[in-house]
Amino acid sequence: MKVVIPGGTGQVGGILDRALTAAGHEVVLLTRSPRGERQVRWDGSTLGEWARQVDGSDVVINLAGRSVSCRYTDENLAAMMSSRVNSARIVGEAIAGAARPPAVWLQMSTATIYAHSFDGDNDEYHGVIGGGEPGVPSYWAYSVAIARNWETALERAATPATRKVALRSAMVMSPDRGGVFDVLSWLARLGLGGPVAGGGQYVSWIHDHDFVRAIAYLIERDDIAGAVNLAAPEPLPQREFMRELRSAWRVPVALPATKGMAELGAFALASDTELLLKSRRVVPRRLLDAGLAFRYPRWRAAAADLTHRRRRD
Ligand SMILES: NC(=O)c1ccc[n+]([C@@H]2O[C@H](COP(=O)([O-])OP(=O)(O)OC[C@H]3O[C@@H](n4cnc5c(N)ncnc54)[C@H](OP(=O)(O)O)[C@@H]3O)[C@@H](O)[C@H]2O)c1
Repeated sequence: MKVVIPGGTGQVGGILDRALTAAGHEVVLLTRSPRGERQVRWDGSTLGEWARQVDGSDVVINLAGRSVSCRYTDENLAAMMSSRVNSARIVGEAIAGAARPPAVWLQMSTATIYAHSFDGDNDEYHGVIGGGEPGVPSYWAYSVAIARNWETALERAATPATRKVALRSAMVMSPDRGGVFDVLSWLARLGLGGPVAGGGQYVSWIHDHDFVRAIAYLIERDDIAGAVNLAAPEPLPQREFMRELRSAWRVPVALPATKGMAELGAFALASDTELLLKSRRVVPRRLLDAGLAFRYPRWRAAAADLTHRRRRD
C-alpha cells in the first residue's frame, strides 16, 4: 500500500513509519521541513504539489498538530486549534479533489474529548463528551473544543469514496527518547512519580505495538467508520499507574505530589497540569467488539516490556 502521513515526523508518526515500512508499505510523510526523499513539503493549511501524493494513495493518516506539550497560553492554545482544524480541512480538500482517492482516511483526534471522569468508563457509545464538567479549569473545555472541531472538520469533508475514522487516541507509550513514556520514566526514576493530587484520576494509555495493530486493523476493516477509541482496555488510577512504572524501573519509593508540585513538574516538563490531573477513563469498546485482541491490556506487562526495550536501546 501507499500510505501518506501528514504530520508524520513526530512521536506517533515515527512509530507508524517504522512499522508500516517494515511491513513493506510505501510511506510518505508530509512535513513543513522535509529531509530525505520520503518527506514531502506542505504547509498544513493550503493545497499544493503535495496533494499529488494523496491522489492514488491507499491510506492517509493525518497526525499534524502543534504539540500539546507546552504551556497553555492563549497563543499556544490558538495554534493547537488552528494547526489541527486547518490540516484536517485541507487533507479533506486534497482527498475530495483526487482522481483516485484513498480508500481510508484515519484522522487523529484524542481521548481528551471525553469528560473528566472517575466513575464510569468512557466508550464510544455511552461516553460523555467533556467541556461541561463543573469545578475544572476553564481551559480544559478548550482542549475538548479543539478535539470536537478537529472531528467536525473530518465529518464535514465531502469525500464520498473514502472511509473516514477519527482516532480518539490515549497516550501512546513507546520507548523512544522524548516520548511520553520517556518523560514519565524520568519522573519515576527520580522518585518524583508519586500520586499527583491524590492519584485517583485515571490514566488511559496504549502500548505502541497495540497502537500499530489497531491502525492496521482499522485500515483492513472496511466496515468501521466514525469515532474509535485507541486505548488499552484497562485504564488505571494515576497512583497505581506510577507505582507499576516505578516497580518496572525497580525504584522502591516515591514522594507524593500535591497539585502545586504537579504544577512545578509540569513546568519542568514544559507541559501543562491538564496532562497530569485530568481523569481519562477511556476504553476501546468498538475495537474490542470488532474482535481486536490487545497484546498489552494491562499496564504492568506493558511497563515491563517498555522498560526492557528502553534499557536495551
Ligand atoms: N503522542 C500521543 O501519545 C498522542 C495521543 C493522542 C493524540 N495525539 C495526537 O496525535 C498527533 C501526533 O502526535 P505526536 O505525539 O506524534 O505529536 P508531535 O511529535 O508533536 O508531532 C506532530 C507533528 O505535527 C506537525 N505540526 C506541528 N505543528 C504544525 C502546524 N502548525 N501545521 C502543520 N503541521 C504541524 C509537526 O510536523 P513538522 O514540524 O515536520 O511539520 C509534527 O511532527 C498530535 O496531533 C497529537 O495531539 C498524540
